[in-house]
Amino acid sequence: MKIDPWANEGVQNYKEICDKFGLEIVDYTKLPNPTHLHRRGIIFAHRDLDNVLEAKKAGRPFGVLSGLMPSGQIHLGHKMVIDQARWYQELGGDVTITVADLEAHATRGLSLKACRKYAIEEYVTNYAGMGLDPDKTSIYFQSERPIVQKLGFTLGKKTNLSEMEAIYGFSGETTLAHVQSPLVQAGDIVHPQMDEYGGLRPIVVPVGIDQDPHIRLTRGMVSKTNWFNVNANKSGGMTIGLSIQDNNLEVMGIQANGEIDDKQRNKVIDKVVGAINKAGFSQVSSNPKHGKIDIKDASVSDRNELRYQLLSLERKLGGLGFMQPSSTYHQFAIGMTGGKMSSSQPETTMFLNDSMKTIEKKIKSSFSGGQATAEEHRKKGGNPDVDVAYQYLRYFFEEDDKELEKVRNEYVSGELLTGEMKAICIEKASEWMKNHHELKDQNQHLVKKFLK
Ligand code: TRP
Repeated sequence: MKIDPWANEGVQNYKEICDKFGLEIVDYTKLPNPTHLHRRGIIFAHRDLDNVLEAKKAGRPFGVLSGLMPSGQIHLGHKMVIDQARWYQELGGDVTITVADLEAHATRGLSLKACRKYAIEEYVTNYAGMGLDPDKTSIYFQSERPIVQKLGFTLGKKTNLSEMEAIYGFSGETTLAHVQSPLVQAGDIVHPQMDEYGGLRPIVVPVGIDQDPHIRLTRGMVSKTNWFNVNANKSGGMTIGLSIQDNNLEVMGIQANGEIDDKQRNKVIDKVVGAINKAGFSQVSSNPKHGKIDIKDASVSDRNELRYQLLSLERKLGGLGFMQPSSTYHQFAIGMTGGKMSSSQPETTMFLNDSMKTIEKKIKSSFSGGQATAEEHRKKGGNPDVDVAYQYLRYFFEEDDKELEKVRNEYVSGELLTGEMKAICIEKASEWMKNHHELKDQNQHLVKKFLK
């Protein structure tokens, strides 16, 4: 099973994906102020989200990063990501948004100029109406932040064509621009951790499940750059292992002839022990020759703290010191015609720049889970799971869980008819859109601030 992030195929079996790729299930009851997306299981899986939540709890900085393809009209799916970014921001995180103009140029054949126009007219102007704090939000173009391309090269040393083929299904015909774009995206994801962009801190990337290949690739490459590996050992404690790489031979005490320089090796081990102490642990025994340090009084739940201290040390010693990014995964709303949502088929989705009239028309002709006749519907009830009007309330327009539950029950029992469900959706959607368009118009002065 492969996921192709460019195919827009739609993923069917979420559970299978979690098992196969080792995603953890989100338990929303453990989240501070969970949004409707969390409470309804729409954001269903994650990698390493605890790292972010622990930072928040300890009052330490953390950030969220997202990206957009500047190649089409902004739709409700994009709103979902910004809702999440705003949630992290309200918890104290900073927000970085990538305009993937290089990727759109490479994979969709658009000129950078056209990408810029799309990005500003479609996306950034709408973001201005979505409540992001301009002082804690930065939106940038891939083509204008050379550091993300440079990092793509640096990280690219930690992967190869076989891995790219295994992850993405690339083959001999794949263009090299297509190979480069995930590397640049990896650069996007890690660069906020650089000192000039906020420094070492957890960064979470909220994505649709289709983007997980990029996350897997990035996490793999980042972990291969780390100078100190943090692992749980069987006896219950933790073990730190030195990772010898061609850019740290001297620091790690490897001589030109390949032999260990004991003095230098002990020096680096002492520093690691110092970092472990800083993390709050002291029962340490080391084997300098093997480059291993065992910690008896630490356990798996201390992993993030140990990592943080060791990455800080790595930076002091001249390494990159990047944390693996965290990620969360959301499900996609069904398209309005009942199939998948696709920006190239306007009838399948609601664009944020749609007029009220268009929105009403789209909802009225949307796919419904109701029965063929009112009489039959009263008897058998409707199916909210495939009903677009209900699903759009659930994903986008009805914040109140009780209200949603009520509508659901009434639909299932047959009390609420399809036309009535659609009318509720039209009312709620219009209310949201009207409000959004107003905020958007009021906040156009923010566009410049976001792009700073
Ligand atoms: N590849 C993403 C898309 O197709 C866009 C993107 C570029 C991105 N860089 C990113 C998404 C970093 C998340 C994080 O939409």
